Amino acid sequence: MKGTALKEKVMERIIIFDTTLRDGEQSPGVGFTVREKLEIARQLERLGVDVLEAGFPASSSGDFEAVRQIAREIKGPVIAALARAVPSDIKKAAEALKEAKRGRIHVFIATSPIHMKYKLRKDPEEVLRLAREAVKMAKEYCQEVEFSPEDASRSDPSFLYEIISAVLEEGAGIVNIPDTVGYSVPEEFGSLIRNIMKNVPTIKEATLSVHCHNDLGMATANSLSAIKNGARQIECTVNGIGERAGNASLEEVVMALKTRRDFFGFSTNINTSEIYRTSQLVSRLAGMPVQPNKAIVGKNAFRHAAGIHQDGVLKEAATYEIMSPSSIGLEREELVLGKLSGRHAFKERLKKLGFDLNALQLEAAFKAFKELADKKKEIFDEDLVFIVEEQTLQIPQIYSLEYIHIVTGNQVLPTATVKIRKEEKIFQEAACGDGPIDAAYRAIDRVVGLKVKLVDYSIRSVTGGKDALGEVMVKVQKEESMVTGRGISTDIIEASAKAYVNAINRLIYREKVRGKGVK
Ligand code: KIV
Ligand code: ZN
Repeated sequence: MKGTALKEKVMERIIIFDTTLRDGEQSPGVGFTVREKLEIARQLERLGVDVLEAGFPASSSGDFEAVRQIAREIKGPVIAALARAVPSDIKKAAEALKEAKRGRIHVFIATSPIHMKYKLRKDPEEVLRLAREAVKMAKEYCQEVEFSPEDASRSDPSFLYEIISAVLEEGAGIVNIPDTVGYSVPEEFGSLIRNIMKNVPTIKEATLSVHCHNDLGMATANSLSAIKNGARQIECTVNGIGERAGNASLEEVVMALKTRRDFFGFSTNINTSEIYRTSQLVSRLAGMPVQPNKAIVGKNAFRHAAGIHQDGVLKEAATYEIMSPSSIGLEREELVLGKLSGRHAFKERLKKLGFDLNALQLEAAFKAFKELADKKKEIFDEDLVFIVEEQTLQIPQIYSLEYIHIVTGNQVLPTATVKIRKEEKIFQEAACGDGPIDAAYRAIDRVVGLKVKLVDYSIRSVTGGKDALGEVMVKVQKEESMVTGRGISTDIIEASAKAYVNAINRLIYREKVRGKGVK
């Protein structure tokens, strides 16, 4: 009865503004290449986000280039570019957005006493003037302008009303209220939004947005509370990645609105069956594994361990499942392909997974698939995704692992011998270490001769079974640059070495293509 009534009512839509490529990239240790950003942007378009914040063009030449290429190619969502309230940032953002079908300049300046005094060293009058001038200037370049008073939740509410009224007067169409340091709690944040709606009458002609960080684990709750009180745009990231503890997570916000539409009464444009795939892609390219108990996309989110629960779910899924795995696209196609599969089946399967490869990429991916099928009898979708990504992202493989031999045991000093190819030359080195992986990394270091620090190492099995592919992710640092590398193999030592070599290639590539910036 309730469901029928809901179907008949046309629901107002909440605008989903994704900032995975901008605030998400501010996660410690994450740095996407331009190609990776494009790959994620294409998937976000499939997911159906309304606005895609592609980057902060003034922060680096890499960010500028990523925004420019995304604006050129991605025509579904509005493409947003971030800018401080300074003319050079606004010009850069406008330039990067030139080819966008629909672009948006997102201008921000801090408004809290603590930020104005210590960070900006400006008084409120000056901040107000800069905000006005910035929005006015951005409007000259771009029809759509969004304004964010940074650290809004710790700002003086009457100053907030004043600055919001001012930027609306200058033509801002969207005003975003950030809980920059994740300090708010839902009731309080909701009432801040309600008070803005009440005290700034002209806000009704614009869209009120929210941008919540997760320092106290309340980003999703705060965002939803804001919706209940008048906000109509939520800024969020896939898997909730972002600065410090991250941002409101897109999948949580969207699935809460969908699952509890009886309570919220809003819809979104998101094709929820693309959620799982998007989450996996972002996790891999960011080098940030999703925690198993993460709401919606964690690997345990739809698993039932207790006997009573399993019994209940077998009798009727709704006993313990408030949403179905298929609603987020979690439909395991268990066995996909094997050693005897041909090109046609391979190509068809890739198409179904959403990959459209050119003939050369397809041939390379098929070769990699056959090599894997020789080692592993069952090839799953996840295996295929890895193979294809290796072929399409095309980070120049300056170094590649040709050979690795390990001697280890509980009574011997672990020793590794590696052969590494660099262009046409093969280099061989050996080293001892605290364990086989440490030994392998020391041997690789000897060949490459770069001083890098291993910051993080994680391993997981990509698929089930004794012959599962092991995926190793590493983070390595050289001075200011931190990159992620990944390697897969049925042999975990080989996967570890490949991940390390991959990170080194990325480091070299990053240093070559990235300019120095303000971020
Ligand atoms: O958290 C924040 O305040 C931001 C702004 C730039 C919107 O990311
Ligand atoms: Zn933020």
